[in-house]
Amino acid sequence: MRIFVDEEELVLDDQKANQTIYSILTELGKYIPVGCHLDGLTPIGACRMCIVEVQGFKKPVSSCITKPFDGMKIYTNTEKLKIYRKYLTEFLFGERPHPCHVCLADGSCELQTWKFKIFEIKSRMIDYSEEDHKVDQTHKLYVLDHNRCILCFRCVRICHEYAGPHTLDVKGMGSNARIVIDLDDKWAESKSCISCGKCVMVCPTGALYMKNKEISKTRRFDIPKFLESKGKRIKVFESMINYI
Ligand code: SF4
Ligand code: SF4
Ligand code: FES
Repeated sequence: MRIFVDEEELVLDDQKANQTIYSILTELGKYIPVGCHLDGLTPIGACRMCIVEVQGFKKPVSSCITKPFDGMKIYTNTEKLKIYRKYLTEFLFGERPHPCHVCLADGSCELQTWKFKIFEIKSRMIDYSEEDHKVDQTHKLYVLDHNRCILCFRCVRICHEYAGPHTLDVKGMGSNARIVIDLDDKWAESKSCISCGKCVMVCPTGALYMKNKEISKTRRFDIPKFLESKGKRIKVFESMINYI
């Protein structure tokens, strides 16, 4: 199969042709921002941060869930994409208050990195929600703060696919969606959580963190890939795939 990436021709063997565009592009050394995606977790295409343009397509496509086709012409960094990515970042910020100045993740947050370091957004482009969401501090080790959650579902997937108990899930839709513990219980009352900490390791923001530990020391974004390489995946995340 032949594809074109930013006008450069690329010949893909059968194995590569079966990979996602995101995976092909990153192997080429292209930087594609990702929010919900994490290598090793089942891709769900929830945030659209990883968009690229494809010739002939009206809208940009999410590269983390799109496979290549023969003759595909992909553009990874057009002016349109730069503007879209800025707005996507701002939409993720805007859904919750994100009080960064009092956040343990301040300085180690993926959302902040996109906004200030990568897309150089100087000021707010939209109004942010001011709704105060609850914080579950009941677990002896971990905290879940909905004010900083971007609903990437990394925590849900790692709990289901690698930890196993599927303690975490999502309740509600649209702007009312939020992460829940078991049947919307307090974390300390969870009958299923095995306190393995995997969810805390993969959260891109300050929504999940370990008590009395620096966030920069507890993040392990390579952990799903590492566990997969050790054959620790429990089962494919079919329930979420059926929604997309
Ligand atoms: S600590 Fe482990 S078992 Fe508990 S919610 Fe997180 S990933 Fe699931
Ligand atoms: S708690 Fe963290 S990992 Fe889970 S959905 Fe929210 S931002 Fe993503
Ligand atoms: S990273 Fe691809 S849709 Fe979220």
